[in-house]
Amino acid sequence: MWKKIFAASSLTDSSDGNKVEGNVSRDNLPQHVAIIMDGNGRWAQKQGLLRTAGHTAGVKSLKRIVRTANDMGIVALTVYAFSTENWKRPPAEVNFLMKLFAEYLAKELREMHEENVRLNFIGRLSELNPALQKQMQDAVRLTENNTGLKFNIAANYGGRDELVRAFQKLAAEVQTGNLAPDTITEEDVDAALDTSELPPVDLLIRPGGDLRLSNFLLWQTAYAEFWFTETNWPDFTPELFRQAVTDFAKRQRRFGGLKNACGKYEQGE
Ligand code: FPP
Repeated sequence: MWKKIFAASSLTDSSDGNKVEGNVSRDNLPQHVAIIMDGNGRWAQKQGLLRTAGHTAGVKSLKRIVRTANDMGIVALTVYAFSTENWKRPPAEVNFLMKLFAEYLAKELREMHEENVRLNFIGRLSELNPALQKQMQDAVRLTENNTGLKFNIAANYGGRDELVRAFQKLAAEVQTGNLAPDTITEEDVDAALDTSELPPVDLLIRPGGDLRLSNFLLWQTAYAEFWFTETNWPDFTPELFRQAVTDFAKRQRRFGGLKNACGKYEQGE
């Protein structure tokens, strides 16, 4: 399980001179960035196209951002591709998204593997089409020893659903006598989540103009910094991604504690 790091984020705290992005040093990069890829439908409708054309353009945007995050040395990137609520969309759009998913894996997997990206999926995957599940398992297996960006795609994912599944796992442990209820810790909950191998989210980016979390990574974003833009996801550029990272590096994070004399932050209540 990932060990929590309570480090401060500031452009001026950097001492190693290892600049990776403008003024941002490797020390001040967010370790885990999460993105809600919103605004595909509105992007398409603005241009008189079908909503599905927005999703196709969204895939191109995703390719650019995965490469950018990997090149910058970000540890983990998690994107919201399909939520547990997205099944309520018209069947034609749901089918299109599922097909796009399969095509994306078929077309992009090799290149991501060559670029040392480690692919993983989070969500209630067992409810997806078995052929797509097989593609996902193959992709995870192929890239499992890669040491670059940990790229996670949330598919049939809901934050509340993930927590319910985690609590069910813990309840099963209690039932078998492996765990006493009053000894359950935050680390136990972390370990039961789909993201058990990942650090907590540092930076959450939402394009498309809406200012909400939409049931994404509810536990993991407890201390995340939020970055919003009106730009729709298909128009989201590597420059905007770098801007979000640069803005993140300027924020003061206290994690509920107080800034101490050394300019670092203490963990508090
Ligand atoms: C939200 O935009 C986007 C989605 C529900 C799907 C996101 C999917 C992709 C970017 C492409 C597929 C992903 C992979 C990994 C292949 P919206 O449709 O809600 O846009 P709107 O708010 O403008 O209607």
